[in-house]
Order: sequence, then structure tokens, then C-alpha cells
Amino acid sequence: MTRKLAAGNWKMNGTREALDELQAMTSAHPEPRVDILICPPATLLLQAAALSADTPLWIGAQDCHSAASGAHTGDISAPMIADAGAHAVIVGHSERRQDHGETDEDVCAKASAAHAAGLVAIICLGETLAERDAGRTLDVIGAQLAGSTPDSADAANTVIAYEPVWAIGTGKVPDIAQISEVHDFMRENLTTRFGATAANIRLLYGGSVKPANAAEIFAVGNVDGALVGGASLSAADFSPIITALEAAG
Ligand code: PGA
Repeated sequence: MTRKLAAGNWKMNGTREALDELQAMTSAHPEPRVDILICPPATLLLQAAALSADTPLWIGAQDCHSAASGAHTGDISAPMIADAGAHAVIVGHSERRQDHGETDEDVCAKASAAHAAGLVAIICLGETLAERDAGRTLDVIGAQLAGSTPDSADAANTVIAYEPVWAIGTGKVPDIAQISEVHDFMRENLTTRFGATAANIRLLYGGSVKPANAAEIFAVGNVDGALVGGASLSAADFSPIITALEAAG
């Protein structure tokens, strides 16, 4: 089985002084029993990757363009991210889908570009509150999973993050049965499409994961880690989440 993964998404937070938090995280977990990834803003990628080069901490980006290069002002490409020393890139975060109108097709193309550059693609999915209230959660997740995951996906190059839009940054978390239902559904879907490798594709839960609720979430079957926003910004908050994931076995 692939190791579990504690992933942090700093979003549009962090200037150079935030690199101290990375150092605090690596000192607190010199030999972690889980994989640890932090996705800082693009401005810090190069320095963050250099700082953590000889540590178990992996660095990732928060988005990439689907093209390798070209006239796309303001964008960064997957080969540039790999060149900066990063291991992974988040694609299809709901804030990208909402703020930038990214479709499943766009996300799929970005994930393909990540794979072509040798990066792990962390593909994000999640229903809105209106979709959940309408009883459409599994339909939405099924469509996003099918549409956003390229044929090149396997357990080594792809991580799926289930992040209910209404749980992100709100302090609201789905109940355990709701998380379990979606994660089991994603595993089944991936197995139907990809066969045996799907058993080892890591499925993260994301949305208001905190030190206080991490252990309960990590005890859910088919939850192989977390994608953490706010609580990944400081070592003081992220470290107990890493420890809870290690304890979940
Ligand atoms: P949050 O963000 O942990 O701050 O809710 C999660 C995410 O957007 O990945």
C-alpha cells in the first residue's frame, strides 16, 4: 500500500518568512511514517524545494497550465514546477473552479500535463451545499472524477482529494458517514476504470481538517490522508495532524 499523505495547501498565503514553518515541520518529523507535502504559493516554490531537498518533506504547486510553455501571461507550467524542485501540483481546487471557471476538461488537461512533467497530480473534487441538499452529491462526484482524471492516472502519479465546497474554510465538516460514503464511492469508481492500481490511489479528505478532528477523519475507511488549508500554515497546527495520520496506521 502506498503511504498515507498529509498535504498542506497554503493558498495565497505566505512570504519568505513562512519558510521558517517548513523548517519547523521537518524538524518535528525527521522520519515520518507518512508522506508530507506542502504547496506554498508559486513565489516560494524554488526556495521551499531547496530548503526541503534533503528532508522527507515534499513541495508542490497549487495549479499549473495545461501547456508546457507559450503565450499565457501569469501562468506557470508543469515542467517549470518540476524544474523548481517540486514533486506535485494541485489541480482543480474548487477555488480555481469557482474563481477561474475551470471545467473538468481543463482539470483533466492540467493533470495530464503534470503527469507528462513527472509530477504527482492532486486532483480536487467536491459538491456544493446546494448539490448536497438536492441529493446530488454522488452524481456530482462521479462526473467530476470521471471528467477530471486522465487515462494516464495511476497510484504513483495521482492523488484524489474530496473537498466538499461547503466545508472549505468554514469549520463545517461532513459527518463520518458522509465522508465514508463518498470515499467508498470514489474507490469503486476508480477500480472500475483503472483496475488494480486504484486500490493504491490515495484518496484525501479536505475541508476544515484541524488537529481536533483529524483522528476521527483518519479512522474512516478509504481515507488515506488529508488536504489541509488553514491548519497547514503553521507547524504548530499541521504537526499534530501529521502525528494523527501516523497513528491511524
Ligand atoms: P481548509 O481548506 O482546511 O482551510 O478548509 C482546505 C482546502 O481548501 O484544501
